[in-house]
Amino acid sequence: MSTDEMWAGGHPAYLDMDPGQDDVWALATALGVLQVLGVTTVAGNHTVDNTYRNAVNVLDVFGRNDIPVHRGCAAPLWHPLVTAPEIHGQTGLDGYAFPTREVTVADVHAVEWLASQLCSLSRSVSVIATGPLTNVAALLIGHPSVKPHLSGITVMGGSLSGGNVTPHAEFNFYVDPDAADWVMGSGVPIKMVGLDVTRQATVTRAEVEERLGSSSREAARMLVALFRFYARRHPDPHHPFPLHDVLAVAADVKPDLFEWRSIPLTVVRCDPVRRGQSAMIEEATDRQPVDVAVQIDVLRFFDWFWEALRLSGL
Ligand code: BDR
Ligand code: CA
Repeated sequence: MSTDEMWAGGHPAYLDMDPGQDDVWALATALGVLQVLGVTTVAGNHTVDNTYRNAVNVLDVFGRNDIPVHRGCAAPLWHPLVTAPEIHGQTGLDGYAFPTREVTVADVHAVEWLASQLCSLSRSVSVIATGPLTNVAALLIGHPSVKPHLSGITVMGGSLSGGNVTPHAEFNFYVDPDAADWVMGSGVPIKMVGLDVTRQATVTRAEVEERLGSSSREAARMLVALFRFYARRHPDPHHPFPLHDVLAVAADVKPDLFEWRSIPLTVVRCDPVRRGQSAMIEEATDRQPVDVAVQIDVLRFFDWFWEALRLSGL
């Protein structure tokens, strides 16, 4: 397919992710509103073997195994890997019985695959990254010639208002702060969609069950089952949960749902207390500013969200 033909079908993008409960909702909405050119996986919520398997399994349930999936980096650039099984489960995606079958691993590493894909396009496309930024940083470090092929990178990560894994750091930036700092300073246009907005747009188990519970589609059953697992520690069906990664897809597709602030950012890399903290650079710097989402129009976002899921075939 030529690049022009790709654009005729909508806005093409690559997803780099670590599925992961909320990554699955990001993937589901992306299938509805984007032309997903490929999915690359990274270690974060779980090992890269599991995040790869989870991405392949979810695409299967959506009947979209036409979308290429490539396995990427197994560990952060420098720090040892930290995962989050207490949230996402022992497989990284507990709650739904995916068929137990052999998942073959594509033999080209995600970073090499993405580099060759991007360089073969005659128009620039975006990458939406919803896991630690290891693959994206490795891409920019190892293949700087891809930069003109990137219209931008939309990142779920960071926070200007406190963390979720430590008081200072958001999980994705905490897991690979070196990669996050590299990407923030890369000069590629970056949209940072962090906890400042993802904590504003929450959904409840009652809403998910009401919207999707009566669907006969297997993908809807999967999403409801996964959400029940994600919500398992809160018996109240009206307890609010953030779906962090979905907001990165929304920001890539409909940036007008958000209010943005353009600021130069750094990510704390080594300080044992502040590791992973995203911080505005106060002094003069030649770092290109990053667009940080600071507010979201919650009502319009949820109109977009349910419609995107409907368009994904639910
Ligand atoms: C981020 O951390 C992960 O656990 C989620 O998938 C999301 O990408 C939220 O801090
Ligand atoms: Ca994620």
